[in-house]
Amino acid sequence: MKGIILAGGTGSRLFPITEGVSKQLMPIYDKPMIFYPLSTLMSAGIRDILLISTEEDQASFKRLLGDGSKFGVNIKYVIQPSPDGLAQAFLLDKEFIKDESVAMILGDNIFYGANMTDKLLEAKTNAENGKATIFGYQVKDPERFGIMEINSEGKVLSVEEKPEHPKSDYAITGLYFYPSDVVSHAEKVEPSARGELEITTLNDFYLQEDRLQSELLGDGYTWYDTGTFESMNEASNMIKSVETQGNRLICSPEVIAYNNGWLDKNILQKRAELLSKNTYGKYLENIIKKGR
Ligand code: DAU
Repeated sequence: MKGIILAGGTGSRLFPITEGVSKQLMPIYDKPMIFYPLSTLMSAGIRDILLISTEEDQASFKRLLGDGSKFGVNIKYVIQPSPDGLAQAFLLDKEFIKDESVAMILGDNIFYGANMTDKLLEAKTNAENGKATIFGYQVKDPERFGIMEINSEGKVLSVEEKPEHPKSDYAITGLYFYPSDVVSHAEKVEPSARGELEITTLNDFYLQEDRLQSELLGDGYTWYDTGTFESMNEASNMIKSVETQGNRLICSPEVIAYNNGWLDKNILQKRAELLSKNTYGKYLENIIKKGR
């Protein structure tokens, strides 16, 4: 399975802080925002990752992440010339996707929960068996999101993008798993009234074919779309409190890579030395001492 991180867009909702730097490079407590979606894909066992950004930000992402080898993954880069919609992510490098299933995550989405890896692996299996998966999270302002209407068995009845009168308060989060025919489906998406290739239209295609599964992220899961000052701050506070209270490092690509057996000790040791002046590096030192 291939992975895509969509990290383009203008970031205008966060001006002035994003006037000079891409939103997805902003810190969420002790890591750049992009580490979080990267760690989610890695937790699903995905090692081939395409990072989509604007042309002007690509060099910064390359400086931070390189070819991915420091995290035991392969990262390829592609430019999205203008923010024409989330579904365009599947059309920018068809050669990368070839005929594999794909997980796509938005560069500003943060997921955390004890059993998240199980949910991800289930979605991956679904995709490999021809079904798409979307993840729902209950929110207080559903009109701001894509919304899924589900019945009591969790079957998706409808999906709508930012409806004026939402049929449920389950937001569709920015993490999507698709089977290997995603490119041909994305090619059929027409621009919406606001001129974007909507991910919700793509999800609706799978729904119409009875191939759309939903997973609810209920108690014990946290999801942030860190697109506002408030949500960035809330997400930072959540990460800080989990890490400080539990003396741990969460959503770290290095830790996930090491635990997955993708990084050898020497590479991790170099990372730990580079970051040794802070708690991130000290935690890496600890896991090297403890072993996998
Ligand atoms: O976060 C979840 C929501 O994300 C979903 O519930 C919605 O269905 C989905 O449309 C999307 O809504 P947003 O209003 O958050 O989308 P936004 O335009 O803010 O884009 C989300 C991120 O993707 C943002 O960080 C910028 C990036 N982006 C966006 C577009 C439209 C791109 O990289 N390229 C694009 O073409």
